Amino acid sequence: MTRKHLLSSADLSRDEVDSILDTAASMHDVQRREVKKLPTLRGRTVINLFFEDSTRTRSSFEIAGKWMSADTINITGKGSSTSKGESLRDTVMTICAMSVDALVIRHSASGACHQVAQWVDASVINAGDGTHEHPTQALLDAYTLRQRLGSLEGRHIVIVGDLAHSRVFRSNVITLGRLGARVTVVAPPTLMPSGIGDWAARDGFATSWDLDQTLYAASPADRPDAVMMLRVQRERMSGGFFPTEREYTTGYGLTRERLARLYAATPDLPILHPGPMNRGLEISAEAADATSSAILDQVSAGVAVRMAVLYHLLAGETEAAA
Ligand code: NCD
Repeated sequence: MTRKHLLSSADLSRDEVDSILDTAASMHDVQRREVKKLPTLRGRTVINLFFEDSTRTRSSFEIAGKWMSADTINITGKGSSTSKGESLRDTVMTICAMSVDALVIRHSASGACHQVAQWVDASVINAGDGTHEHPTQALLDAYTLRQRLGSLEGRHIVIVGDLAHSRVFRSNVITLGRLGARVTVVAPPTLMPSGIGDWAARDGFATSWDLDQTLYAASPADRPDAVMMLRVQRERMSGGFFPTEREYTTGYGLTRERLARLYAATPDLPILHPGPMNRGLEISAEAADATSSAILDQVSAGVAVRMAVLYHLLAGETEAAA
């Protein structure tokens, strides 16, 4: 794979997704060793430039770079000169003047990473741009699902929540589609992105406003093989998208009652959430901490998958040439 940037999940062909997930499996083995250092990216510099808050994504990119012996540096919007009014272009040009090899960027503006990729020579990795995409999250979700379910061909994955504001959902429908999964996305009408009908027809996923009908479909073949809950993104909401939190939970939350009914049919149903969770809103504590919950597996997979992405973008070409 000789790709320079990872900006959108649509950049990756099925073969490339498979290849990254296979590399991630080898990286996951490294993660279980006592000494977790590989020399692969020795002498390379990776800058994590985060203009939005993050726990999982930022720390996993940092750990991934460190375990591969890259020099990794974290810069956050609040602690950088952007808080003094410096433009995004000036910030990235300044950083790249220090000869960095990769920029991992999270920004509140959709399209920010595509723009940066036009300005700099370094590899750019999209770690979440506004409500647009989050391709490494989709890869780690696919990795986690593959660990639980084996091949995703024909498997039915149900994604539930604040679709309007979710970059995780946008990347997931692409990557899961590449791997042959059937995807149904569920949200209240106010949290469905506008124009989703055309988009669903083009990318081959289904949409629903009715969570219970989706979860407990009459035909066993239509029932979910995994359920992914998404966070209600209050920080991106400008008005009232649902009447009360209680109503949201009643209609769209993975409550204790819904979990019990799901478990009656499929006791090992994988439950995913990219985090951070609003416990008690979109997901109950019982579901988050259930024995079949894959939420911490997703976090663990995040490091392996980001190692694999850094490897393919930064080391792949050199190794292939060697
Ligand atoms: C997601 C994000 O930032 O897009 N979280 C993550 O990367 N782990 C989802 C979210 O914030 O709800």
